Amino acid sequence: MKTKVTQSPTIAARFIQHGEIVAFPTETVYGLGANIFNEGAIRKIFLAKGRPTDNPLIAHISEISQLEYITNGVPHIAQRLLRRFFPGPLTLVLPKGERVPSSATGGLKTIGVRMPRHALALQFLRACGMPIVAPSANLSGRPSPTTWQAVRSDLDGRIGCILKGEQTQVGLESTVVDCTGRIPIVLRAGAVTLEQLREVISETRLAERKYPITPQSPGQKYRHYSPKAKVVICSYPQYTIASADAAYIGLESPMYTNVFKKHLICKNVEEYARLLFQFFRECDEEGVNTIYCQAVSEEGLGLALMDRLERASDE
Ligand code: TXA
Ligand code: MG
Repeated sequence: MKTKVTQSPTIAARFIQHGEIVAFPTETVYGLGANIFNEGAIRKIFLAKGRPTDNPLIAHISEISQLEYITNGVPHIAQRLLRRFFPGPLTLVLPKGERVPSSATGGLKTIGVRMPRHALALQFLRACGMPIVAPSANLSGRPSPTTWQAVRSDLDGRIGCILKGEQTQVGLESTVVDCTGRIPIVLRAGAVTLEQLREVISETRLAERKYPITPQSPGQKYRHYSPKAKVVICSYPQYTIASADAAYIGLESPMYTNVFKKHLICKNVEEYARLLFQFFRECDEEGVNTIYCQAVSEEGLGLALMDRLERASDE
């Protein structure tokens, strides 16, 4: 299949209406979308990515009124969170509506829903005229794509269309919050921070991630965000071992920057998050074998950044 690259949300939406799958930018990472009510199109997503079929997809909406078609009621805690954070980088896990095929949610009775705030994403979703299910637009196991070129390098020839936008703003995937219980539980940290969620609902807590007996979010059990290179998290940049096969990314400079094959010193945690996945991909293309990543404090966006670094460094 030849993959069309376009800047037009209406052309991209036409592919959706014909049952094809389309990669599109959001403020977090690029997504790979299908019509939520078309089982054939949903199957194409899992095939194109090589994604395990029990890993559920997130539904993307452009209007709050669309919740009615895809959920079975919106719990009170979810209403409070969506009033504050939609549109934005937040996914709420809600009871699934009957009309949504169970293949979209990996057989779960719940569905993750988010409304992106990215202008081109919203234009595309409106042109589609229906909720769009979309995982990140990478091959399963690879870092999420933050540029349209990264999408093309993973999925060219495997999908109908790429809606071409800029490099994404946030660079890490959305915060996923389970709203089906009494209190909100953060299943995946992201750009809407724990601190911000607690301003709205103070009891909000993090899911246990270290030793889950049964993962609350199927995505938690799969290795994620991994470059081919070995990722080493370091608290003290001055103790990294500079070598011509290694790379370094962090907020502070290590001792022998010039000995590294590649290095990137970021202004702040936001920039570190925005550039991390692209840096991982460039390291792979350039044959780097070890990537040293400076640890950051787990507050604000730092919690999400450390989560992705830990997953990438898991053996
Ligand atoms: O920022 C994002 O969330 C991006 C953009 C494209 O929206 N999407 C994304 O999708 O990162 P994906 O499929 O790569 O990650 C979705 C995560 C997975 O860990 C999945 O298991 C979890 O959300 N998830 C989705 N639906 C769920 C549900 N019903 N219950 C629990 N976890 C769910
Ligand atoms: Mg993903």
